[in-house]
Amino acid sequence: MALLKTIGLTKDFGALRVLDHVDLEVREGSLHSVVGPNGAGKTTLFSLISGFIKPSEGRVEFKGKDISHLPPHQMAHLGIRRSFQVITLFLELTALENVRLAIQAEGKERFSFFKKASDLQGLVVQSYEILRTLGLAQKAEHKACELSHGEQRLLDIGVAMAGESNLLLLDEPTSGLVYDEIPMMGETIKKLTPKHTVVLIEHRVDMVLSISDSITVLDFGRVIAQGPPDIIRNSEEVSRAYLGVR
Ligand SMILES: Nc1ncnc2c1ncn2[C@@H]1O[C@H](COP(=O)(O)OP(=O)(O)OP(=O)(O)O)[C@@H](O)[C@H]1O
Ligand SMILES: [Mg+2]
Repeated sequence: MALLKTIGLTKDFGALRVLDHVDLEVREGSLHSVVGPNGAGKTTLFSLISGFIKPSEGRVEFKGKDISHLPPHQMAHLGIRRSFQVITLFLELTALENVRLAIQAEGKERFSFFKKASDLQGLVVQSYEILRTLGLAQKAEHKACELSHGEQRLLDIGVAMAGESNLLLLDEPTSGLVYDEIPMMGETIKKLTPKHTVVLIEHRVDMVLSISDSITVLDFGRVIAQGPPDIIRNSEEVSRAYLGVR
């Protein structure tokens, strides 16, 4: 069964149709990428899936239930987590503290400030586990502002992974990275599956073709191609509209 499904998802901003009847399915435990030129509607798609904006038509289903009209905090409670095109870290806190605070913010006892030391220990263990998955364990005690841009991007994913995350929506995690850091980012994202289900927005088509299980190509808000990398690689429509090949 698909973990996430959009059905006829449409968004108008005034007279501008930004997403036009988008149907997509993301299998549990898979890495599904969304590619498309600037302004194709990729971030808008994430804003709809995570409840930040509401559809003009169509719906979003998570585990078979219509969640289109839930507010963002309830989407987050379901485990739908989003990272943004712009990094959102506490730069003066350590890497560990950034993840720990995110876990606490998702937890049920977020307003109990006087936690037992043993609870805190549990949070630290969970935070380390996330940092380890991202290859950041050695940087746990470093302030976020001391990390390289690539490490900050990874930590930003760690913040999104905090708590019970089921679905990670990553919006251009390679943005601003130097050339050498890009393969590492691709490999790390791939390693998050199948434990996590990941939807990745990415401009680098080479990377997307090499790491994704399935791909949706958007152009002017419409799906112009969808399927496994081989189908996308050989799609004439994609070559014409996006890759600029042939
Ligand atoms: N709140 C809004 N009000 C009006 N228009 C908007 C709004 N948000 C996005 N748009 C427009 O919707 C279109 C799609 O924007 P979106 O940010 O989803 O594109 P994108 O595919 O993420 O692009 P990029 O690759 O540059 O990040 C653009 O033309 C944008 O100007
Ligand atoms: Mg965008």
